[in-house]
Parts: sequence; C-alpha cells; structure tokens
Amino acid sequence: MDLKGKHIVLGLTGGIACYKSAEFCRGLIKEGATVQVVMTQAAGEFITPVTMQALSGRPVFDSQWDARAPNNMAHIGLSRDADAIVVAPCSADFMAKLAQGRADDLLSLMCLARPAASVPLLLAPAMNREMWIHPATQRNLALLKADGATLFDVGNGEQACGETGDGRMLEPQELLQDLIAFFQPKRMAGHHVLVTAGPTFEAIDPVRGITNRSSGKMGFAIARAAREAGAEVSLIAGPVGLPTPRGVTRIDVTSAQEMFDATLAQADQASVFFATAAVADWRPATAADRKIKKDGSGDIAAMEFVENPDILAAMAQLPRARSGHLFCVGFAAESHDLLAHASAKRLRKGVPVLVGNIGPATFGQDDNALLIIDAQGTQEMPRNNKMALARALIENIAMRLEKS
Ligand code: C5P
Repeated sequence: MDLKGKHIVLGLTGGIACYKSAEFCRGLIKEGATVQVVMTQAAGEFITPVTMQALSGRPVFDSQWDARAPNNMAHIGLSRDADAIVVAPCSADFMAKLAQGRADDLLSLMCLARPAASVPLLLAPAMNREMWIHPATQRNLALLKADGATLFDVGNGEQACGETGDGRMLEPQELLQDLIAFFQPKRMAGHHVLVTAGPTFEAIDPVRGITNRSSGKMGFAIARAAREAGAEVSLIAGPVGLPTPRGVTRIDVTSAQEMFDATLAQADQASVFFATAAVADWRPATAADRKIKKDGSGDIAAMEFVENPDILAAMAQLPRARSGHLFCVGFAAESHDLLAHASAKRLRKGVPVLVGNIGPATFGQDDNALLIIDAQGTQEMPRNNKMALARALIENIAMRLEKS
C-alpha cells in the first residue's frame, strides 16, 4: 500500500495507450490511492468512461459543463484536494496545449487552474516515434519541464502503428513505480549507492555448484529505496530472477570473485555501500571443466576449497572508506544470538553500521525484521515487508550521512 492516503486525479487523453491506463488505475487503487478519473473527448474514443468508473469506483468527469459539480466548477473542485494530477497517456496534442496554457476542455482547464505549489503535475507521454522526436514536441517537453511539470520517460519498442522506436507509454507497473518514487523524500540525492545482493554460485563443474538460499529481495528493495530517495544506484546481483528496480544500473555476476571484482571496480564512484549479498565463504579450489562422474566404486571424490575474498571487509579498508567518503553498511544473517554475533561482525569487518537479521526467517520471504547496530548501540526495526524496511533503513543511513 505504497500510495495509502494519496488522492490522484488520473487524466486520460487521446491515444491507444489508454488501454494501459485501465491497469494503471487498478494499480493505483491496489496501492491504496483514491482515484478521480478525468477524460478528454478524444480519450473517450479509445476507452469508455464506464470502464474507468468501474475500476476507480467513482464517476468519471469529461466535460467542463458537467452540472454534477455543485458550484458547476469541476475544474476547481476536483483538483484542490488532489496529491497529484497524473496525465497518462499524455498525447502530443495535449502536451502542446499545456505548454501554451490553453484550457478548452475540463482536463487542460484543471491542469492550468490547479494550485501548482501543492498539486504537482505528472505527464506520461504516449505517441508515435516521429511525433515524439519532432522538434515541436521536444520544444513543448522542455517548456513543460521549465514550468515545473514532471515528465515520465517514454518506453522504446514496437508501437501500435507498426513502427519501432521511442514514444510508447511506460507499462502500468513502471508508471506505478515511478509515481511511488516521486512521493518519496529525496534524502539521498547526490549520492552514488552501491549494493550487492543475492547469493553467489561457486562452480564445481559445468553443471553443479555451491550456492545458498538468499533470494536477493532485501538487496533489491534497498537498491529501489535508494533510487527512490534520489541516489544514483548500481546493483551487483548474484544469480536471482528478480526484475531490476526502475532507474537502477544492474550488473549480473555469478561467483564471489566476480562480485568482488565488479564491486571494487565501482568503489571510486560510490559514496555508500550496502553489502546485502550472501557471499559464499569458500569455493572449490578448481572447477572441473567436465562433469564429474561417479566411478561406481562408492568412493566420494575429495574436494579442496579455498576461501573467497571478503568484499565488505575489502571495501571498508579502502582509503575512501577510512576517510569517511564511502559509508559501508554490512549485513549479518544469523540463526541465533543475533546481537552478539552481529556486534562482533561489525568490529571484525570494520564498518560503522551492521544490520542483523535472522537468516532462516528472511531468506526468500517478503518480510523481515532488522537490528541496526552501530558504535552507540542498537535499534530494532520490527517485522514489516522488505520494501518498508528498506525505505526506513535508507532514511536511517541518510540521517547519518547528513550529520557527518
Ligand atoms: O562473514 P559474513 O559472511 O557473515 O558477513 C556478512 C557480511 O559480509 C554481509 O554484509 C556480506 O554481504 C558481506 N560479505 C562480503 N564478502 C564475503 C562474505 C561476506 O561482502 N566474502
């Protein structure tokens, strides 16, 4: 329920992407928002008000002459209590209209009449690629940004007209993620956050290996929360099937050594490092290049192991970290005596903050509970979903960064 308590005016203008707005509207409701749909006449050619009413649970407004508004001023009444007006899809024509401050239909009238300081305007452009790259559209885009509107990206790919390129509206889930991010305080703006996440896989032979049950969910949630807070984010992910959070740069790796190399290669740019990955402590000394076969004797093949490099300890030892330019946060997944083990680990790794959690209670789960340990003491973050915990953790770390 990431939009609980938010009231969104969802504006639809004429474009085939209106079919995505139905799902977007459902997504808004599922996230706890209340939604007032306002449609232009052209939008009504693509999707009916009946559909949007059923999904939003409120009658749709589509005319400035609608007599339902008690004072007959729907353009004022509907926008005053909104937390945002989101126009999705926003056609090229509607962008032109807004850029000029024209107001000859209810939606454009509302956009112009809204209290701009308290009701942000967010636009999700949707159009053919030629229309999108046309200098007139790009000029309008710049004007709208200068006037304070927030422009969502456009997607790239096959378009309804059969052409391929930039200009399609983002998918409903992408829009939803971007809108949720819009409402988060930008407490990490200017920071470059580096996150390791997921398990590693240490090859035994071409078909087998050693790994663990880390799902990567906590690390991915932290990457998303850091991005929402305005940071530039690089996510170094072990083998997991999770989707990349919006706006995050992802580098996929397999083994601990690869994760180590990829992380250290980014260290110079990073100002915050979250080591959430469950890195394998050891790897087979050599990985066989052919599948190891049973020989029928009943003897088990002996295997030698070597220790993997400790990514977190190595990062914490860098001059950048020691001089306070790279803030390192470690994690500890324990099965018992969390406080004692995690406190010892914080000192051993040489990091200012270590976050403890109970391994079996978090691996693969959607929720978790955290124990934040620093030199001063501990702070509990009670059981909650991983996204909520990630946001709280980002806020906690942002506060430390602001103080230092
Ligand atoms: O020593 P242990 O694996 O319990 O430490 C956990 C913390 O250290 C986590 O933050 C984990 O991401 C990090 N770590 C690492 N490289 C390793 C082992 C652990 O970065 N080789």
